[in-house]
Amino acid sequence: MKLSTSSSRWLVGAMLCIGLVNAHTVIVYPGYRGNNLHTTGTVEEAEGLGAAYTSDNETLIYPYGMQWMYPCGGMPTSTNRTRWPIHGGAIAMQPGWFQGHSRAMMYINLGIGTVPPNMSHPMITPFEIVGPDNDPYPGTICLPQVPLPAGIEFNVGDNATIQVIELAQHGAALYNCADITFAEPEDVAEVNDTNCFNSSHISFETVFTTSSLENAGLEIITLPTFITTILPAFLAIAYGTLMA
Ligand SMILES: *[C@@H]1O[C@H](CO)[C@@H](O)[C@H](O)[C@H]1NC(C)=O
Ligand SMILES: *[C@@H]1O[C@H](CO)[C@@H](O)[C@H](O)[C@H]1NC(C)=O
Ligand SMILES: *[C@@H]1O[C@H](CO)[C@@H](O)[C@H](O)[C@H]1NC(C)=O
Ligand SMILES: *[C@@H]1O[C@H](CO)[C@@H](O)[C@H](O)[C@H]1NC(C)=O
Ligand SMILES: *[C@@H]1O[C@H](CO)[C@@H](O)[C@H](O)[C@H]1NC(C)=O
Ligand SMILES: *[C@@H]1O[C@H](CO)[C@@H](O)[C@H](O)[C@H]1NC(C)=O
Repeated sequence: MKLSTSSSRWLVGAMLCIGLVNAHTVIVYPGYRGNNLHTTGTVEEAEGLGAAYTSDNETLIYPYGMQWMYPCGGMPTSTNRTRWPIHGGAIAMQPGWFQGHSRAMMYINLGIGTVPPNMSHPMITPFEIVGPDNDPYPGTICLPQVPLPAGIEFNVGDNATIQVIELAQHGAALYNCADITFAEPEDVAEVNDTNCFNSSHISFETVFTTSSLENAGLEIITLPTFITTILPAFLAIAYGTLMA
């Protein structure tokens, strides 16, 4: 029921876009900056650039697709921000909008400020998703409690941007952002199993060994999340192996 509703919604969206769509992730919650599932112009016109002006200098074209553009898939900062909990909250996305994502790596970062100078604050340890196959597939994944980067605190009313990156199998990165304003949890729209759920045909996998957690930076920021939310089963297996 839940899944088929979301599937049919997705399919309607997919049909509207097929032909122009050459891409990718959609952040479902909090709301993303806008539809950037566009591929415009030709590679020849852009002389191989990811983004270029047409010969009349009037239109910016994205012959490979807008979502490949760092940091936010070709979308400028928006003013219609979503209130998001001041101690962290849910992030839901649809990762299967394009072929080639039977497996994908997902990253979630925070950019601080109304127009963030960078998106260099990881919120979680990257994880891998496994979809049904390499064709576009429907479905949503949701992390119900993504924490803030460690050591950073916000006040109610502060602005930030959540950046979701999906690495395709060949290693290229798709970008998408949601602009937020921090708010007390009671002032944030309810998150429940209609807007935050995992579709059963998308599974999660870990990609890091425990030793890679000792590498620069990541362990400070994400070890608690890593242990408590995403990867307990993996750790159990890893420890089991070490003990054996
Ligand atoms: C913000 O506005 C754009 C353009 O109207 C829309 O596409 C997008 O979904 C909106 N985002 C939110 C979070 O409301
Ligand atoms: C487009 O811009 C370039 C560089 O500024 C300029 O050389 C060229 O004449 C412009 N073309 C048109 C059609 O305005
Ligand atoms: C947050 O962004 C909105 C526009 O999206 C702006 O009006 C507001 O002043 C910003 N808040 C802060 C604290 O900068
Ligand atoms: C990234 O932005 C933060 C502010 O959000 C700033 O403190 C930090 O120095 C910036 N880092 C880099 C590498 O520019
Ligand atoms: C889930 O939350 C949304 C608002 O975010 C609300 O409109 C909807 O009624 C809620 N659904 C249930 C079953 O509580
Ligand atoms: C979705 O799956 C991930 C990974 O197992 C999990 O951390 C998350 O809590 C799940 N989301 C929901 C809404 O249950």
